[in-house]
Amino acid sequence: MSATSTSDWPYPRWVAHRGAGKLAPENTLAAFKLGAQHGYRMFECDVKLSRDDVPFLLHDDALDRTTNGDGLAGDKTWQDLQQLDAGSWHSTPYAREPIPSLEAIAAYCIANGFDVNIEIKPTPGADAHTGAVVARHAARLWHNKPRKPLLTSFKPDALQAALAAAPDLPRGLLLHELWTGWLETALMLGCVAAVCNHKLWDTRSVALAKSAGFKLLSYTVNDEADVQRLLDLDTDGIITDRVDRFKPGP
Ligand code: G3P
Ligand code: CA
Repeated sequence: MSATSTSDWPYPRWVAHRGAGKLAPENTLAAFKLGAQHGYRMFECDVKLSRDDVPFLLHDDALDRTTNGDGLAGDKTWQDLQQLDAGSWHSTPYAREPIPSLEAIAAYCIANGFDVNIEIKPTPGADAHTGAVVARHAARLWHNKPRKPLLTSFKPDALQAALAAAPDLPRGLLLHELWTGWLETALMLGCVAAVCNHKLWDTRSVALAKSAGFKLLSYTVNDEADVQRLLDLDTDGIITDRVDRFKPGP
């Protein structure tokens, strides 16, 4: 058995993490714009659901670290979430930067010809539901667009639901570690990519993943020596915070 054909892998090697890493408030439109100013053409972001099932960008389960709200983000309605300030925690120039909806990010990226890696980041207990709803919205937002977003998740149940809801959208399994059965799970989920903590890639894991037909991506790579190692291993994609350090190239 082999992964879905990846011969038409369309994505650039360099991916800006959470928009522009740490240089702007993560997972905001301002971060995407700053990443774009540094030449990036593909952006990773974390997407979860509001209480009323609107997909929006936020990394943590709770609002506290990156907004002026508090508590579980998934308990709030989109009406409430869009009032919050997701920029002041970072720095005053970004004060009042809002939490973006996936719809707003899709509009920006499509208008500018940018690619997106949507990490499905469910509120605990909502893996399958989040995977299904996010995939359904992504399919709608990128309908008839030649380049589709790459859907990734650490949660197999989210990817399984995404597969059922929008089978034509490419998927990647995120891995903190190479847990037993990861490769078979990624194949079963019809993934085209394995997206690993960069330390997991070595000659053995690269050979194994390549033999199964996966593209190989790494997160979060901020060090020159790590970049060189991943290039020497002939991996395919690098997700970085350091949009100021690494030029993404053509
Ligand atoms: O998608 C790669 C990376 O973003 C996963 O880790 O915690 O930054 O979402 P995290
Ligand atoms: Ca992420």
